[in-house]
Amino acid sequence: MQKVLLIEADVSAGEDLLTAAAELGVEAHVATHEDVFRSYRPELKERISGTVFTDFADPETALDDLERFCRETGIDGIVACWEFLSPLATRLADRLGLPGHRPERAEACRNKRLMAEVFDAHGVPAPRTVVAQDPGELARRVAESGLGYPLVVKPAENAASIGVSVVHSAAELPGAARLAQAQTHKSSHGLALDITLLAQEHVDGDEFSVESVISGGTIHHLAITEKFTTRGTSRAELGHTVPAETTPAVSAALYEAATAAIRALGLRNGVAHTEAKVGSTGACKIIEVGARPPGDHIMRLVREALGIDEARAFLQTVLGRRPDVAPLRDTAAAIRFLTAPEAGVLRWTSALPGGEHVVATSMSKMPGDEVGSPHDNMGRIGQIVLRGATASEVNKVAAETMDAITVEMVTQW
Ligand SMILES: Nc1ncnc2c1ncn2[C@@H]1O[C@H](COP(=O)(O)OP(=O)(O)O)[C@@H](O)[C@H]1O
Ligand SMILES: [Mg+2]
Repeated sequence: MQKVLLIEADVSAGEDLLTAAAELGVEAHVATHEDVFRSYRPELKERISGTVFTDFADPETALDDLERFCRETGIDGIVACWEFLSPLATRLADRLGLPGHRPERAEACRNKRLMAEVFDAHGVPAPRTVVAQDPGELARRVAESGLGYPLVVKPAENAASIGVSVVHSAAELPGAARLAQAQTHKSSHGLALDITLLAQEHVDGDEFSVESVISGGTIHHLAITEKFTTRGTSRAELGHTVPAETTPAVSAALYEAATAAIRALGLRNGVAHTEAKVGSTGACKIIEVGARPPGDHIMRLVREALGIDEARAFLQTVLGRRPDVAPLRDTAAAIRFLTAPEAGVLRWTSALPGGEHVVATSMSKMPGDEVGSPHDNMGRIGQIVLRGATASEVNKVAAETMDAITVEMVTQW
């Protein structure tokens, strides 16, 4: 029986990957921290054949620990589940001689400063970017660069829109820089984050991601996902639809740009989640690439809509097998997140609806719970997965469904 090592399985794709491993008859082992493992959900724990505990906050020791475990256990494939550890997964696969990505570019798949350099060097269409270590330097670099406003300010390493803001004038730069540098460590594993500041040209337009499997250097684009985000100064994701409702020209531009980005980053065996924006002229710019499964249950949407099991294809690829990437149907699926109108305490929500289009619903907050701000992805209180014959049908049903839900917060006098 072949064996894979999942590097931090407590992510939204974790269950899909463990299910795919069981279906493929592959033993799934997991690398995590002992303290994090204690809070793994039982549904995850019961599908795991073995664990290796390490401290990812010390990456070199972690790499040694995992290499030893893989050699002793006879691991055949390394699976990067969590974006923050995708460089470690790439370096581990390289050390073990297993299918993976180019190790020299491993850090650039996670660190936005390095990613911008790689994109620039390889002519990948991406927003113009300047970097700085502190707010003062950022103001100088922006002024020297001639970049106009609005700009996007973000930290080199984070995720889920944390620390990302749109800045409309020089006066707003210091506040945006402080926000971008507020989080220095990533919770649960205590990873030190690079808080170098990036200021980027603001790319107007609609937002998409391209979901891809790369096998032996061959890129298979599975689907384009349309993203629905908040429109104010922050960019929180409100939902996704697979496949996106695009014209053939926009799809072609997205695939072409994603291909260029994936090649530039040296991705050879695994999956990629490429985020991009397309402006009114049809020009496409890459926002970032994650060398890991998409979050927010997008793999589930791909499976519902097209019948492609991306988790299965990922495992096949890292095991050196040919991935199953052919679509089995041509329908659409969507996820929408319920958020509160502002941060506070949740008083009440109307029941989440059912019906022929509803695949699944879940609430993550209960009345009386503290709820985060709707300005980043921490403010979610529930989610709905829907299906339809086409993207336009599922988007319409999703909009009607969300409009019909009422969220009330506790008001304070
Ligand atoms: N240069 C940009 N132009 C326009 N929007 C951007 C830009 N950079 C980021 N965004 C918006 O902010 C979101 C989060 O930024 P991103 O760079 O993807 O960081 P994260 O790692 O937090 O996902 C993006 O999905 C997009 O909506
Ligand atoms: Mg992103």
